[in-house]
Amino acid sequence: MTSVIFVCLGNICRSPLCEGIFRALVRQAGIEDRVSCDSAGTGAWHVGNPPDPRSVAVARQNGIDISDLRARQVVFDDFTRFDLVLAMDRNNLRDLRRLGPTSAAARIHLFSDFATGRTADVPDPYYGGPDGFEHVYNMLFTGCASLLEKLRAKTVS
Ligand code: 4NP
Repeated sequence: MTSVIFVCLGNICRSPLCEGIFRALVRQAGIEDRVSCDSAGTGAWHVGNPPDPRSVAVARQNGIDISDLRARQVVFDDFTRFDLVLAMDRNNLRDLRRLGPTSAAARIHLFSDFATGRTADVPDPYYGGPDGFEHVYNMLFTGCASLLEKLRAKTVS
């Protein structure tokens, strides 16, 4: 089993959307028994809240229901429980490297870097309009598809 946690700032916009997309792709591939995922935020402002309605909406437009997810903050255990800790942007990456034990360094990566080999932040869409969420969805979908291929190549061979 390979486990992945996606991390952003609030765990209400980007990372729950990423979790929903990745879970859907894993299910489609029929490998739920081999790959699992979760999401969390580096901040605590939205703990217990459902995802932002704009994330719920863009997910729903693409056939994915994320309305039952609830925000939580990253905890120390996450750095040992998950094989991969993937940060949505470089601020999240910096915060995770500070929060986690030095022994977890090899598990913590920038999502886009690890998934596609290209360094790019998944931009925080919180203060923008619906276009931002569409853009984030597309980035996350591309990254998740690529991440899944990468994990499958590793676990199948
Ligand atoms: P997220 O977006 O990190 O993608 O969940 C944000 C959500 C809330 C805030 C910032 C970013 N906030 O400042 O409350």
